Amino acid sequence: MTTERVIDLGERGTVRIVENGEALAQAAAAEFAQVSQSAADAGRTALIALSGGSTPKRMGQLLNEPDYAARVRWDVCQFFWGDERWVPLSSPDSNAGEAMRIFLTNAPVSNDQMHSWDTETGISPAEAAARYEHKIRKYSGTRDGGVPVFDLVFVGMGDDGHTLSLFPGTTAMHDTESLTIAHHVPKLNADRLTFGPALANAAKKVVFLVGGAGKAAILKQVLEGEVNIDLTPSQVIRPTNGTLEWIVDEAAAANLEGSADGNR
Ligand code: 6PG
Repeated sequence: MTTERVIDLGERGTVRIVENGEALAQAAAAEFAQVSQSAADAGRTALIALSGGSTPKRMGQLLNEPDYAARVRWDVCQFFWGDERWVPLSSPDSNAGEAMRIFLTNAPVSNDQMHSWDTETGISPAEAAARYEHKIRKYSGTRDGGVPVFDLVFVGMGDDGHTLSLFPGTTAMHDTESLTIAHHVPKLNADRLTFGPALANAAKKVVFLVGGAGKAAILKQVLEGEVNIDLTPSQVIRPTNGTLEWIVDEAAAANLEGSADGNR
């Protein structure tokens, strides 16, 4: 059993510090299993948004292992992605494509439970974002308006403080209305598709997965520093009614005030 410490940062969330990357993946997989089971117990669909990047990959591999797979109510889940690169599913850069290849196609999940952004049919990024909103509204029962409520939104955080595809140098963090956003990210010189803050913050639970020493400085800035969503877009994630949880490993948490070896 790995040791785990918890720091309650109020509206900045609850930080669960786990030993290492493997423990982080295990905690994330357990979180997802629990959300799916709760939804099943309530006779509901579980709207799940998976994050991109490398951190969630180990979680996906674990979810294919028998003891985890047995704990997940795959049948009630509808899978979406909090953000996507403007690449085809076949690309190794595709968040949805990688998740499908790593675990979803090996899980008892049908194709109509997996909802990737449309980067395949030659439409524009803006049209893809509009279509994604429509798809989310369909599965969340909000066709007539209101903000869809996800059961669980996994997000990562880059070492520049970005999350989803809300990057420094863009204005998307200030868009308080759009559920889905297509925009050009200057620092990447690439188009990106992303949940808007309004959609992420409507979720019942948002979970950041942050691991590695390379994130220690930015994690301290995001959690303990001045709030500035232009410099650290991750700070725009503040669930309105839901919970905000950070699952981080010791290496990423090394500089936090509440951690064992934080700099006092
Ligand atoms: C993406 C992600 C992005 C990611 C962070 C952290 O499309 O790149 O959604 O927001 O979560 O960059 O990535 P790592 O987990 O690989 O550090």
